[in-house]
Amino acid sequence: MHGLTKTAIFANSKGGVGKSTIALLMSLGLATRHSDSKIELIDLDPQATSSDSLRRFANRRFTVVQDESFFLGNGFPNNSKIINHIESKVSFKHNSNYMVFDSPAGSDPARSAFFLSCDIIFVPTSVSDADIFATKKFLDSLDELFKSEAGISSGKPPSVVILPTMVDSRDEFNELRTVLAHAPAYLGKPLYYSPLFRRAFRAEANDKNVRDLLLESADYIQWLTHLFVHSHTIKQRPKKLFQL
Ligand SMILES: Nc1ncnc2c1ncn2[C@@H]1O[C@H](COP(=O)(O)OP(=O)(O)OP(=O)(O)O)[C@@H](O)[C@H]1O
Ligand SMILES: [Mg+2]
Repeated sequence: MHGLTKTAIFANSKGGVGKSTIALLMSLGLATRHSDSKIELIDLDPQATSSDSLRRFANRRFTVVQDESFFLGNGFPNNSKIINHIESKVSFKHNSNYMVFDSPAGSDPARSAFFLSCDIIFVPTSVSDADIFATKKFLDSLDELFKSEAGISSGKPPSVVILPTMVDSRDEFNELRTVLAHAPAYLGKPLYYSPLFRRAFRAEANDKNVRDLLLESADYIQWLTHLFVHSHTIKQRPKKLFQL
């Protein structure tokens, strides 16, 4: 746990698995449910899907950041800059602060030491074979990152939570659980497929699309934000997949 600021990142090397969508549910969910907290959404994706669409909701408590100095010229993350940013918020006096990172496809844990400064790494995946395969490889490289840093940093390593999304049925979810059974990570609740998500990033009149989405996903958002807010109570990484 990093002081009063909690930090989550949505990451997977695979594109189109729902990183930005769930980062949106998390940040708007926190902003609407925790009226005494401050939330910062940091978009590390040069495509800026999250920051472009969420900036219109920004206010005193909800900040949207897209900062080019968080990347290096070669497109890789500027780890020291990001870690400094995370650490700079540690001692805020405000009741609670939440930092939510959305990250681009292609992110490589070996080049992302700042992952280790987060409290929780959310790894969204769909249940399609290609996504599961890529997700397994991503989890392996996360493991390598943890091993390379073991003993160097004193803090608790981040919890890793796989978030199945675009799920069609309970059977599909069970299938995913079987395929990932040996992953040393937590498995989150399934986010079911809904056409409403296709319109999540538009600026519709009165934000009807976002309202409908937040209403339809209320139970999921409740679970997701609660997990983040209480992430300090999550135990050390499980040896094999552990369903939350
Ligand atoms: N539960 C869902 N039901 C239906 N469609 C979904 C769901 N979650 C995400 N999508 C859709 O899947 C597509 C990819 O989602 P999203 O942009 O969040 O993925 P991403 O991992 O951030 O992609 P990228 O790697 O390009 O940043 C989007 O069109 C989004 O609307
Ligand atoms: Mg995205």
